[in-house]
Amino acid sequence: MKYPVTVYGDPLLRKKAKEIDKNYPNLEQVIENMWETMYYSDGVGLAAPQVGLPIRMFVVDASSGADEEPELADFRKVFINPEIIEITGEEWVMNEGCLSLPEIREDITRPDEVAIRYFDENFTEHEETYKGFAGRVIQHEYDHLEGILFIDYLSPLRKRLLKSKLLNISKGKVQPHYKIKIPVNK
Ligand code: NI
Repeated sequence: MKYPVTVYGDPLLRKKAKEIDKNYPNLEQVIENMWETMYYSDGVGLAAPQVGLPIRMFVVDASSGADEEPELADFRKVFINPEIIEITGEEWVMNEGCLSLPEIREDITRPDEVAIRYFDENFTEHEETYKGFAGRVIQHEYDHLEGILFIDYLSPLRKRLLKSKLLNISKGKVQPHYKIKIPVNK
């Protein structure tokens, strides 16, 4: 089952997500639905708050980066209760998009390397370091669990230029090919 994607303007995207345990209801099904939603929407990552769930979990398929980084060919991972240990390395710019910000793409600067502790879908704990494309996507998805969106890294000028686009998104005046949940604005 595909979830509708929450978009800019939805308060859930600005909240800190909560940890879960292995008894979280229908966890296996939720993960499967997240994959289905992500692939259908042509995303490379998807965080639970983006499908209306305020929990610390995201999925990443970085295999599309395998052209330049062959080791990513099988990169398909579920991150549960992730905790960033350290973000290091040289900063670099990548043009980022986000399923919650349809029709917006911006050059975003981030450090290269992220050391992260997390549980996989079987609740096995891992501690790993990622860089390059995978490190980039993981930092972007992790931000969603903290209520951060990539537009938060833009200069005040860039942000001003996006103002009307953002307003349109928050009013549901965008038509991506995937289903969105139009924010209820009071
Ligand atoms: Ni995103």
